[in-house]
This record gives sequence, structure tokens and C-alpha cells, in this order.
Amino acid sequence: MPINASDHILNHHMLVAGSTGSGKSNLLSNIGHAATSGGRSVILFDHKPDHQHHHLPNTHPETQNPRAYSLNGQDPNAIPVRYWTLDIQDPNQDAIVITVRARDLDPEILAGTIFYRPSEDLQAEIFAHIASSFADDQSATNPTWTIHNLIDHIRNTSDGVLRTRLYGGNQGGSAFAQSMAAIRRKIQAPGRIPGFVDPVLPTAPITGRRRTTGNISQVFAPGLNVIRISETNRRGYALFLQNLLQGAADYRTGAVHQPSESVHDLEIIIDEASDIFRAESRYLREVSTGMLSEQIRKGRSLHIGYVIAVQSAGDVPESIRNNLNTTMVGRHRNMSVLRDALPTARPGMLEQADKLIPGEMFVDLFGVRSLLLVKMDHSRSQLTMAP
Ligand SMILES: Nc1ncnc2c1ncn2[C@@H]1O[C@H](COP(=O)(O)OP(=O)(O)OP(=O)(O)O)[C@@H](O)[C@H]1O
Ligand SMILES: [Mg+2]
Repeated sequence: MPINASDHILNHHMLVAGSTGSGKSNLLSNIGHAATSGGRSVILFDHKPDHQHHHLPNTHPETQNPRAYSLNGQDPNAIPVRYWTLDIQDPNQDAIVITVRARDLDPEILAGTIFYRPSEDLQAEIFAHIASSFADDQSATNPTWTIHNLIDHIRNTSDGVLRTRLYGGNQGGSAFAQSMAAIRRKIQAPGRIPGFVDPVLPTAPITGRRRTTGNISQVFAPGLNVIRISETNRRGYALFLQNLLQGAADYRTGAVHQPSESVHDLEIIIDEASDIFRAESRYLREVSTGMLSEQIRKGRSLHIGYVIAVQSAGDVPESIRNNLNTTMVGRHRNMSVLRDALPTARPGMLEQADKLIPGEMFVDLFGVRSLLLVKMDHSRSQLTMAP
């Protein structure tokens, strides 16, 4: 029997798991089609990249009902797709470059992103304190501060003054001085601060490319919004996500109290999400996971549905998995993890999970009491074609 992603299901968060080639990206694309057809704004995080050709119909011969999105809404009769990127070098000429402001970022995730090595937890902690007290001070006198002001502040303020501000006394001693020396060195080292944070952009327009600075609210426009996070920005994934998800929550909060035709329900689809949970340092893992699980929990009442896609269900921390009400699993290796993720499966059923062919998935659908074995459709629009 056919199954459909109803509004109810879209609002209740989903986990999509399956080893490489099991059909996750095709499924995510079709969840996006279901959501955009229902009038939602879809934000699809594309890490691989798998989602750069949705303005074309899928040419695979077995595609049912191929359908292209309209690039930047040029065709008023089709649903629009917009491509966004964090990377000024992005090869997709249609992608709009997004930048974010340091003053809109969570100081702890910013700290964990800059001081990302396992041995740098103390530096991250100190930097987070300095950044958040700096932000408090600036809010009255210089509310448009940038990361460059913060760097100057750290470089030009003595250890003694910083230590008194943070801890009110002489705590730390030589360990504090050592950490500060490392912090001062690293905040100026290339590659530590992600390039999308308060960048100094070239003043001449980049040929053939539009760009926006700082304003992420445009990604909540109806239709499909693909956001490319390239390998260059892998370490900044959680940082950007925090900024965007907080923006999404703010965007929806007003609409919940005062319903408005122009503020749409959101669907946030995170393909290849495991990089967020697999950060090298415990500090970054904890602050990122905490941030994501809080946003997902808030999402339901704000009409923000989340879809989290990973290769193994075990990649998703328990605190997040508990809030995902629909589970779809394609070919999958680790059986014990799978039993956790699909508790309604009868004995023997999951043994087939490592033999599923692409597009076959076990589905535990929110509100449906039995586990279904489903043959998914191919993506209606085209996934990224090899160059
Ligand atoms: N519903 C389907 N029916 C038949 N074949 C499918 C289906 N979905 C995907 N496939 C085939 O499986 C292959 C992999 O699909 P897809 O890229 O969606 O997998 P994936 O799980 O996202 O893989 P990766 O982890 O490598 O990104 C594709 O070549 C595609 O043609
Ligand atoms: Mg994929």
C-alpha cells in the first residue's frame, strides 16, 4: 500500500538511517517534495553534495512522476529551489553565499569550533567565557561588533585584567597564562575561525554570483532551500547549524502567537548529520548535541519538523533519538543498534536489514503500530550528477 508523508508525520521528526548507497538522499528529496507541496519551507543541509541539481527532473528511467523545482522561482507555476553556500569558492554558480555574524553566534559553540582539538577543552572554556562577557559589554556601547573586535580585545587585554573579569580573583595562575598564550596564538592562526564568520568580502562583485551578507532569514522562504556545507567548513557545521536553527525558531515563534499567511511551517532536513556528533573534542560534541536536541524538542510546538539522516542509527545520541518519532532504515549493518532504533520489530525481522536493496526500508511511522517494509520511490527531482 502507498504511504505518504502527512503533515502530522512531517511535524513529528524523523530518523533516516542506512549505509552508503541505501537510498537516503533519494528519500530525503521526496520528503522535501511532500513538504514543499504542502506549503512548507524546506531547508536541506547538503554536506556531500547530493542535492545540487533539484532544478532538473530525475532522468532515472524508473522515476515515478519526475518533477523539477524552478531555479530561484523563475517559473511562477513551479515550486522554487534556491541554492545557498558557506563557501565563496563553491562551484555551483547559482549558489548564494551566506555569511554569519559572530555576535549572533553561541559563544560556547564558537569556542568549541575554534579550539576543536581534544586537548583544547580548557582553552575553549576560557574563550567562551571571554566571548560571552565581551558580548555583554558591547551590547550597550558597540552592538555591531565583529569577530575582529573580539580578537583585538583578547590580544590587547592583559591576563590579569581578563582573569579578574572572569573569575574575580587570582584563580588559575600559570595555567591561565599558558592557556591565554595558546588562545592568542590560535585565534590569529589561519583556518581556526570558519571563513563564513564576519568575512571581509571583496568589494568588487563576484562574477556571475549574487551574495548576501548576514541575513539568513531569506532561507525560510517557501520552496526548497539547499544549504551546502562543503568539506572546508566541516568543523563549522554545528556552529552554522546553531545560528540557522535559532533563526528558524525565532522566525516561527512570532507566528505561533500570531498566525500569519506569510510565515510558513518549516521542515529542516540534515543529510549526513553524523559529522555533528562525531566532533573530535568532547566539549564541542556536548555543546553541539545539547543545542540540537533542544532545538528539536522545541520544534514540534513551533511547527518545525526535523529529519536527521545518518549511516548508522547508533551515530545519533540517545537524547536526540528519543525525540525522533518516525524511523526509516535502509540497508544497515549494526544489528544491536538497529534493535534499539526499531523496538517494534518482531524477532528475525531485522536480520534482513543487511540484505535490503537500494530504496527498500523498514519504516516505523509515527502513529502506525506495525513496522512496514517499504519500497521507496526514486527522487522526483535530480540528485547531483557526476561532472
Ligand atoms: N527508491 C529507490 N529505488 C531504487 N533504487 C534507488 C532508490 N533510491 C536510491 N536508489 C539507488 O541507490 C543509489 C544510492 O542512492 P542514494 O544516493 O539516495 O543513497 P544514499 O544512502 O544517500 O547514499 P550515500 O550514503 O552514499 O549518500 C542510487 O544509485 C539510486 O539510483
Ligand atoms: Mg546520500
